[in-house]
Amino acid sequence: MSSQVEHPAGGYKKLFETVEELATPITTHVTGRIPVWLRGSLLRCGPGLFEVGSEPFYHLFDGQALLHKFEIKEGHVTYYRRFIRTDCYVRAITEKRIVITEFGTYAYPDPCKNIFSRFFTYFQGVEVTDNALVNVYPVGEDFYACTETNFLTKINPDNLETLKKVDISKIVSVNGVTAHPHIENDGTVYNIGNCFGKNFSIAYNIVRIPPLQADRKDPMTKCEVVVQFPCSDRFKPSYVHSFGLTPNYLVFVETPVKINLLKFLSSWSLWGANYMDCFESNESMGMLF
Ligand SMILES: [Fe+2]
Repeated sequence: MSSQVEHPAGGYKKLFETVEELATPITTHVTGRIPVWLRGSLLRCGPGLFEVGSEPFYHLFDGQALLHKFEIKEGHVTYYRRFIRTDCYVRAITEKRIVITEFGTYAYPDPCKNIFSRFFTYFQGVEVTDNALVNVYPVGEDFYACTETNFLTKINPDNLETLKKVDISKIVSVNGVTAHPHIENDGTVYNIGNCFGKNFSIAYNIVRIPPLQADRKDPMTKCEVVVQFPCSDRFKPSYVHSFGLTPNYLVFVETPVKINLLKFLSSWSLWGANYMDCFESNESMGMLF
């Protein structure tokens, strides 16, 4: 007699399952009762594609960004999902291979390229991912899906179409911003990002994006640095996941989770390296508030 035993944590595999996007929103089965006055949409991001051709994405943070929408109206809920047309997604689909290195997955150079063009790609450095799978948040009247790099993707919350890619490092002095900004009641967005390689100094910059103003100009273009925190280590910035905001204070915690900058900058030319390989722990610094 044989029986199959499922490991208690085996259910995690579901998290790595690839799903297809939907052509149109579908109606859902509601358990219980949703108040008829409740009306609105819930947008959520997550990974939805875990392999391209025969190549797998190895980390949960590497699956390609899928945007979900639950629309609640008169006690009913519809569900819709579309893949965000990021550069990493579109290029993976069209080239049928992983083109851009993700957090835990290295993208190998195009095998179809000859040895000379591969050599030049090698020295141009690896492209930074725009896989916006982590969060979606409002800026003015717009919505942006994001990961933790310098790229944000503007999406249409009605039909989940991808509108445009924005490089925030071209607007303000940061290498990237977190996926967890704070949004004040008036729509002001606060976020924090690492700033390194500019003037050979390392710092953490708090940035502010104002709400939509009378001139109707894209608030994203008005993003500015409001406070800068210096880094306690000359060569290794800490990884920043998020920060605190109270009515009077910004609360920044510099953690011992360090980014090895030398590795980070050189790993773009190290065969097989990804973002995850550049993290290390500083056992002696403790936490700085
Ligand atoms: Fe997070």
